[in-house]
Amino acid sequence: MADLTSDFVGIKSPNPFWLASAPPTDKEYNVRRAFEAGWGGVVWKTLGAEGPPIVNVNGPRYGAIYGADRRLLGLNNIELITDRELQQNLKEIKAVKRDYPDRAVVVSIMVPCEEEAWKAILPAVEETGADGVELNFGCPHGMAERGMGSAVGQVPEYIEMVTRWVKQYSRLPCIVKLTPNVTSILPPAMAAARGGADAVSLINTIKSITNVDLDHFSPFPMIDGKGSHGGYCGPAVKPIALNMVAEIARHEETRGLPISGIGGVTTWRDAAEFMALGAGNVQVCTAAMTYGFKIVQEMISGLSQYLDEKDMELPDLIGRAVPNFVEWQHLNLNHVTKAVIDQDACIQCGRCYAACEDTSHQAIAMSDDRVFTVKEEECVACNLCVDVCPVEDCITMRTLEAGEMDLRTGQRVSPEHADWTTHPNNPAARHAAE
Ligand SMILES: Cc1cc2nc3c(=O)[nH]c(=O)nc-3n(C[C@H](O)[C@H](O)[C@H](O)COP(=O)(O)O)c2cc1C
Ligand code: SF4
Ligand code: SF4
Repeated sequence: MADLTSDFVGIKSPNPFWLASAPPTDKEYNVRRAFEAGWGGVVWKTLGAEGPPIVNVNGPRYGAIYGADRRLLGLNNIELITDRELQQNLKEIKAVKRDYPDRAVVVSIMVPCEEEAWKAILPAVEETGADGVELNFGCPHGMAERGMGSAVGQVPEYIEMVTRWVKQYSRLPCIVKLTPNVTSILPPAMAAARGGADAVSLINTIKSITNVDLDHFSPFPMIDGKGSHGGYCGPAVKPIALNMVAEIARHEETRGLPISGIGGVTTWRDAAEFMALGAGNVQVCTAAMTYGFKIVQEMISGLSQYLDEKDMELPDLIGRAVPNFVEWQHLNLNHVTKAVIDQDACIQCGRCYAACEDTSHQAIAMSDDRVFTVKEEECVACNLCVDVCPVEDCITMRTLEAGEMDLRTGQRVSPEHADWTTHPNNPAARHAAE
């Protein structure tokens, strides 16, 4: 079994799987059970300032998007930060950390954007023995309207300012949790780095309305006939999160800034993908809320087995795919592939034919007895048939060898790399050559 011990900005945990700040980490009872199930760490549900507790709605607070098999693909929530007393949370954090010294306990904080508010809460959190703090600059609903959460995360100057306060008033490692509700994730990440953040974590939830009740004409979740936008998460947001993580990992100004990857992690494979694109560890919320705490066991065994098979250590995986994440213009235009249908696997449903004939390149032929074959002379290798085929690996893409004839262009495949930067049709390339 590969060693999954993780050291994220000096915070040690037996594995890189942490529960994200959310209902699974809202109280001692949950966190103890999570640790018993095997989670390496938790980010405690976001604490607010001392004072009257936060008030949540009393109607439904979640909405969902499902796949055809009713598998939950996306979750929307209008829940706020913890609605439990600050002192109660602090007491429980202390007790849990005392009993699980080998696990990571990071405390998420969201208080008003005022120096005094941060100065007041940080020593109290530090006193619990917690391993670090995470600054919640991400929640896009409820708290943002009060000038916190994503309202801070959307203004790089505020991120930098608050991060500086936190570094000034606390010795704990500081993770800045970013909102995806921005045009580019880079300015917020750069601001966190300038402010002295030890790491960033992302993504928090995406501003969303999952559905509309067509009898009451209200967004859902509906509270007494009215709805409000929520924050979207779960498997559906993973592609957005992966891209944002990778953008930070590869940009020259943010490269090297430790990243905790969040967003739709459900299996060990999702986690490995986040790590390959630069995340030092991952955090999980929706998958635990959907399937329970025990899913971490599959994550641990799956990742260990994968690392063993690849003869890699955990640190070898982190960032391994970053150099291969390039701008479009650097993709090799001499790499040619063609779709191939495995006739033994094909169930003759015809979806590939409909997709290619109606919306792609008319490159799949259908015989009278429903045998589907690829016309190589038409196939542009778009991959749509692979994406719509209901049988996994029934359609695959074959890479043409160098020197082989591409029947579509009538040209032999060149062994050289050639991309848009040097292509004759690119006016900028022509200009450079002159
Ligand atoms: C019901 C719910 C409550 C959440 N509350 C918080 C919170 O208090 N603080 C926070 O930083 N993130 C909160 N989040 C966001 C999660 O920590 C996480 O960033 C997001 O759900 C994406 O991860 P996932 O796709 O694994 O769920 C919440 C998410 C959900 C679903
Ligand atoms: S890869 Fe695209 S063009 Fe080729 S057969 Fe499939 S759908 Fe048609
Ligand atoms: S979509 Fe797949 S299974 Fe259906 S006809 Fe095409 S190759 Fe066969």
